[in-house]
Amino acid sequence: MKTIAIIGQKGGTGKTNLATILLVAFENDGKLSLGVDLDPQASLCKWADRRHADTPAILPMVARRLPHALTVAAAQGVDVVIIDTAGRAKEEALSAVKVADLVIIPLQPTTDDLETFAATRDYLKFGSAPALVVLVMVESRGTLHEQATRFLENMGAEVCPCMMGRRVAHRHASTAGLVPAEYEQGGKAAAECERIHAYIRQKLEGLES
Ligand SMILES: Nc1ncnc2c1ncn2[C@@H]1O[C@H](COP(=O)(O)OP(=O)(O)OP(=O)(O)O)[C@@H](O)[C@H]1O
Ligand SMILES: [Mg+2]
Repeated sequence: MKTIAIIGQKGGTGKTNLATILLVAFENDGKLSLGVDLDPQASLCKWADRRHADTPAILPMVARRLPHALTVAAAQGVDVVIIDTAGRAKEEALSAVKVADLVIIPLQPTTDDLETFAATRDYLKFGSAPALVVLVMVESRGTLHEQATRFLENMGAEVCPCMMGRRVAHRHASTAGLVPAEYEQGGKAAAECERIHAYIRQKLEGLES
């Protein structure tokens, strides 16, 4: 079983959206995936409530129950766990980092988001997992994403070479409890999400050796 923690110091950086996308993508790979919602706002649970499907399973969770829940999940044959956390929720983020095999930090290529990276990075010391920054809500025009990548790499971050554009399909899909690949098959948002998923899958496979 592999555990991915999605964290970030700031609210609204696309954490829950990325969690839903990865959960469905791993399921479509034939993996049994489990979403763990550590956010008291329960956005991941609410997405599942809007979804007319039984999978992926999503569990609301408090941080102190996380290690036990993961033991049970592993015993039940879960392949991939995705933990969604709230922005500015230190206890939840730390507990997720401690149990993670991979930490994912979604960030918009904006000054506001990038300035939070140093503080988010401090959390990584509490675990041993590698971290990957995924740039999200990237505008189709301009070079802000290139500047953001340079800024982050200068800070020692690994930045996913596949990025997620700002596309309305994400909002429509979320409203329906779906992900872009289900809402608009063959669309640009779906293609970008699949590339990000493939990169993360490869990274997880690399961790196995
Ligand atoms: N690539 C994208 N393009 C357009 N809209 C997006 C994209 N990613 C996320 N969004 C939208 O941005 C909003 C915030 O995203 P999301 O809820 O995933 O952020 P979050 O980091 O989980 O927020 P919070 O910290 O409040 O939990 C949502 O309305 C979501 O649908
Ligand atoms: Mg969220």
